[in-house]
Amino acid sequence: MNDLKVLILDDESRITEKLKYHLEKRKFKVFTANTPNDGFTVLEKERPGVLILDVMLPGMNGLDILQKVKAEYPTLEIIMISGYGDMDMVIQAMRQGASDFIRKPFQIMDIQLAIERTEKFLMMQSKLEAAENRGVLVSKELEGMIEKDFVGESEQIKKVLKMALKAAEDGDVNVLVTGENGTGKEIISRIIHFGSPRKKQVFAPVNSSAIPESLLESEFFGHVKGAFTDARDEKKGYFELANKGTLFLDEIADMPYALQAKLLRAIEENRIKRVGSNKEIPVDVRIISATNKNIEELIGEKQFRIDLFHRINTIEINIPPLRERPEDLRPLLEHFVTSIAKKKGKKAPSISTALVNKLQKYHFPGNVRELRNMVERAMILSDNDSLLPEDFPFRGEDAGSSVASNNGNLNLDSNEVQLIEAALKETDFNQTRAASLLGISRDALKRKIKKFGIEITKGFVD
Ligand SMILES: Nc1ncnc2c1ncn2[C@@H]1O[C@H](COP(=O)(O)OP(=O)(O)OP(=O)(O)O)[C@@H](O)[C@H]1O
Ligand SMILES: [Mg+2]
Repeated sequence: MNDLKVLILDDESRITEKLKYHLEKRKFKVFTANTPNDGFTVLEKERPGVLILDVMLPGMNGLDILQKVKAEYPTLEIIMISGYGDMDMVIQAMRQGASDFIRKPFQIMDIQLAIERTEKFLMMQSKLEAAENRGVLVSKELEGMIEKDFVGESEQIKKVLKMALKAAEDGDVNVLVTGENGTGKEIISRIIHFGSPRKKQVFAPVNSSAIPESLLESEFFGHVKGAFTDARDEKKGYFELANKGTLFLDEIADMPYALQAKLLRAIEENRIKRVGSNKEIPVDVRIISATNKNIEELIGEKQFRIDLFHRINTIEINIPPLRERPEDLRPLLEHFVTSIAKKKGKKAPSISTALVNKLQKYHFPGNVRELRNMVERAMILSDNDSLLPEDFPFRGEDAGSSVASNNGNLNLDSNEVQLIEAALKETDFNQTRAASLLGISRDALKRKIKKFGIEITKGFVD
């Protein structure tokens, strides 16, 4: 049993019960409350370590609850649940001490990862503070700590960490993190922020591909009242909300061309104008961007602006795919086996050399995320004292034959649909896991599901 107690406060019992069910399966000790008052009672009685709190509660605003709870239980870690339109609320919440947020619709995996991130990064922050009190910016101890979370012994990964720590030292330089799906781009971006002079300010992750195109400009720059039909009130955009902090532009290559010019201007001039207004508002944000695409190719195809590219990649950190750094496999395996065993309250199995040998030959399209999921799956299915190659599904081994047997159908789209459907079925329609099996991000999977109109018969929370 994981000793971490979690309280879920949401007015919808459908959501609290489902979350409870799934988090209990993952060995957390879970309490639920559907009204603020019930929530306060549980807090007092059980003293949970983490509170998962909806920003939009009828009656009492999630932010007011956050403030009250933080005042009484300053060490409680709070993860907010929000819709994408509540970004300003979320950022206010982060300013008031919430440690992370999850956007609806979410998968249970998102919550689990947020809890883990929360544990990890708060620990890192407290180390940082200790280091700062002693007058060192990035202490040896902190470096060790980061290395513990960002595992790897290869020269390539050491270089990535070294560059990340360098980028952290300077709070203003813009960083572009590149690498295939699941290589750790987000984790590195967070390390940069939490190691930087901006660490006490907001780290605001924005994935523009998850936002309807018509809303993008006002989401980034805000708008004034009456700027367009739905603009009933004035609203701040991400730039203003992330002021003094870090704006993390995930999947930057997917940003529409028209918005790229506006983004460039904001970054160059450190000023923005809200939609519908001529007033210039100064902003001070550091931009960390991430992409799994080759931006130079996109520039050639006129899909990405070269001037923006030059602005965002003052420092470029490329995380090589896992298959190119076989030395990292064993340390990563050990890291995941130990952490998953701890979480499940099981004894950690040993790792057979045969397994390491086999994994070193595998091409890992989903990189570290895929490895992590494989280990988790193997540890659920096998109770042996040692993890063996048989416990691991190696996808793609017979992919050639399945395409060939596909009536000779070489149409890319229809094969893509089939693969996506197979991955969804295999994972019982868990989109996070399906994406990982396919070696793409969950957002990319969502776009493909939408593009091909694939039917999701069994989703989780929505
Ligand atoms: N070197 C590493 N050490 C430990 N965990 C890692 C490492 N690299 C990645 N991970 C883990 O792998 C998972 C994927 O990492 P992350 O989300 O940062 O990848 P990403 O590059 O942003 O992926 P995507 O392109 O799909 O968005 C996370 O659970 C992360 O903690
Ligand atoms: Mg990512």
